[in-house]
Amino acid sequence: MTTHRDTAEQVDRVKGVEVHPVAGHIGAEITGVDLAGPLDDAVVALVRETMLRWKVVFFRGQELDHQGHVALARRFGEPVVLGRRGSASPSDFPEVETTADRLELGGRFGMEHEEWLQRRRHTLLRGWHCDHGARIDPPAATILRAETVPLYGGDTTWANLAAAYAGLSAPVRAFVDGLRAEHRLGVGYQPRPGDDGYVRHLLDHQVASVHPLVRVHPETGERVLFVNGYYLEQIDEVSRPESAALLEMLLEQAVRPEYTVRFRWEPGSVALWDNRATIHLAPSDNAHLGFPRTMHRVMLAGEVPVGVDGRPSEPVTGTEVGRW
Ligand SMILES: [Fe+2]
Repeated sequence: MTTHRDTAEQVDRVKGVEVHPVAGHIGAEITGVDLAGPLDDAVVALVRETMLRWKVVFFRGQELDHQGHVALARRFGEPVVLGRRGSASPSDFPEVETTADRLELGGRFGMEHEEWLQRRRHTLLRGWHCDHGARIDPPAATILRAETVPLYGGDTTWANLAAAYAGLSAPVRAFVDGLRAEHRLGVGYQPRPGDDGYVRHLLDHQVASVHPLVRVHPETGERVLFVNGYYLEQIDEVSRPESAALLEMLLEQAVRPEYTVRFRWEPGSVALWDNRATIHLAPSDNAHLGFPRTMHRVMLAGEVPVGVDGRPSEPVTGTEVGRW
């Protein structure tokens, strides 16, 4: 039984494929698609359309391997080939980044997970991010697949930044439309004298861009509140206290529960999200449980963001279009 108008329309379009929205503003589960099999163009078009409409789409019980994951990504765009990946990533597939959390930063930089958490000066709000948001051309989309997941805990949450923008009052929308802000990798870490390891790495590999605070989505034309807690350093042309207060207000708006969806992973679950219209929050409720959690990620190349006034983002340091 389907009750949603969109669902009914889409069931008619591709036989056997159903779209089930799971929250009011964001998230839809798609059933009846085998992502490992050859995909009809009509299915690809439906998935893309659903992603643009619902910002993140979920599939369950999929049997993708690395090769299938990359092949799937190619149907939706150009997979990013990462210059640097975590040590758990498969060497044969440079597009695939594997995270086996807890081990990740420790393995790469010798920093214990507990220390890493302590050294973040993030509030919880600061964990919200889009992938690689400090780049001049952040990825257009991300495809994340779960291999091993905790028995409980470890959910991911996404927020719809177009809905968050639309939910602002008209005077505030008009105000933020004209603003720009600097996004910088590592803005949330507290450096100390003599730092080495991960913080040193961040300081030596700075990535920063100035992005419009409101981005016009290149495919939907929607205005998107381009904020996140992880990269956003400072709003341009306003004082630091003004910037801090504005950012807190806008971030709280962005992650209001009504603009979010939370996904419970199972082995074989796949999430595909529009990285231009969402931010997400990695789980923080599973590290203490000790369950393994292994996820594989492929990102799709994105374009340089453009503001309401038509001005594109500008690189500040360590970032070049298409160069990873
Ligand atoms: Fe992420």
